Amino acid sequence: MKRLAVFASGTGSNFQAIAQACADGTLDARVALLVCDKPGAPVVEKAQAFGIESFVFNPKAYGSKAEYEADIVKKLDAQKVDLVCLAGYMRIVGEVLLGAYDGKIINIHPSLLPAFRGAHAVEEAVAYGVKVYGITIHWVNADLDGGKIIAQKAFEYDGDDPAEVHRIGQKIEHKLYVETIKQLI
Ligand code: GRF
Repeated sequence: MKRLAVFASGTGSNFQAIAQACADGTLDARVALLVCDKPGAPVVEKAQAFGIESFVFNPKAYGSKAEYEADIVKKLDAQKVDLVCLAGYMRIVGEVLLGAYDGKIINIHPSLLPAFRGAHAVEEAVAYGVKVYGITIHWVNADLDGGKIIAQKAFEYDGDDPAEVHRIGQKIEHKLYVETIKQLI
C-alpha cells in the first residue's frame, strides 16, 4: 500500500477528500503524514479526526527554507512516503525538498495551466474575463506551477464572482485529485 504525505496550509478540503478516499478504500493508499506550515490551521484538526500524524511547523522559527525543509525530509523519510501531494500548501518548494523527493511531488492548481500561475489564479482569471476555467494537477519542479501536467479538467463560468469559481472548482478538485492519485499509484 502506497504511503502519501499531504501538504496544506489552510482549510484542507482536498486533504479531507484524499484522507476519506484512503479510509473508505477508494484509494489503495494511506495518508501517512500531514505537513502544515500554519499552526492552528483547520487542516490540523482534520488530520487529528482521521488519526493521521502531522508535522506542523512555524517557518519563522527556522533560519531558512533549507532548514525547515530538512526537517520535513526527515519526517517524510521516517514515514517512508512514496508520493507527496501539495494541496493548498502556500509555499514554494525549495532545493532541499525537491532534491530529496524529485519526481515524487505533485500539486493541484486552480487554473488551466500554463495560464494564471501563482497564488491568485482565480481572482486574476475572473478579472481577465475568462469564460473557461479549470483545475490542473502537475508535477512539481523548481519552476512555480511550471512542472509537467498530469491531469486537467475545465468548466465554463460566465460571471464575475471569484468565490463562485472557487466553489465550482473545489468540487472538481476533490474528485480529480483522488482520481489522479489513483492513476499514479
Ligand atoms: C485549492 O483550491 C487548490 O487549488 C489551491 O489551494 C486550495 C486549497 O484548498 N492550491 P483546501 O485547503 O484543500 O480546501
